[in-house]
Amino acid sequence: MRAPVIAGNWKMNTTVSEAIELVREMRNGLDGVAGVEKILCPPFVSLSAIKDLIKETSIKLGAQNLYFEEKGAYTGEISPLMLAELCQYVIVGHSERRQYFNETDEIVNKKVRAAIEVGLKPILCIGERLAENEAGMTEKVVGGQLRSSLAGIDYTPDLTVAYEPVWAIGTGKAATGSQANMTIGFIRSVIGQLYGPEVASELRILYGGSVTADNIVEFAQQDEIDGALVGGASLKADQFLSIAKQTSELR
Ligand code: 13P
Repeated sequence: MRAPVIAGNWKMNTTVSEAIELVREMRNGLDGVAGVEKILCPPFVSLSAIKDLIKETSIKLGAQNLYFEEKGAYTGEISPLMLAELCQYVIVGHSERRQYFNETDEIVNKKVRAAIEVGLKPILCIGERLAENEAGMTEKVVGGQLRSSLAGIDYTPDLTVAYEPVWAIGTGKAATGSQANMTIGFIRSVIGQLYGPEVASELRILYGGSVTADNIVEFAQQDEIDGALVGGASLKADQFLSIAKQTSELR
């Protein structure tokens, strides 16, 4: 059985002191949620402080991005090696990075590779835009993103995939549970073509896009969906805790 994952992508929110406060609010509750992997992905600048705050808890830490080179003259970038000292996970290829920072599947591929090389666990994000969805191109788009992002990369159980339809992110218009389940089932079938049926049945695939404490059950109860990548609602301690708890209760 695949253990569910609830990951919070804080995006570009919280100063260091706000991040510390938020973790203090949810730490004990979250630590007590059993059978769910709980991951916080704060901004880079707060990783170190939060690492200290959650040591000796069951909460894991992730970054929201990385650069694919190990070190060197890349002013402003953060390398896989730097992150490996601070956290276990890293979000790669989020649609906001694709949209605002011109990340292509080729760059995403290099980042997934670089993360795996230093032992970081990538959470690879894929998802179609509204126009693509409306044109019936969802499977073509997410299938293409998946194949390109993973081209030439051996499977590792460290990999997690997140299906985040762009039209559902930050809009309050989540996919329906059955819509998300269908696309995630398709993603699993592509993984099966790439790596075989055994890998397809063990890989964890999350849903992301306007997940809240009010709709998490709709997603978490679906066969193909192994948890959620939560944006806005991960910035509210009670919401995020409730999302993790409800996921745990469904197991
Ligand atoms: P929201 O939950 O705010 O829609 O964001 C989803 C997301 O992008 C998580 O990575």
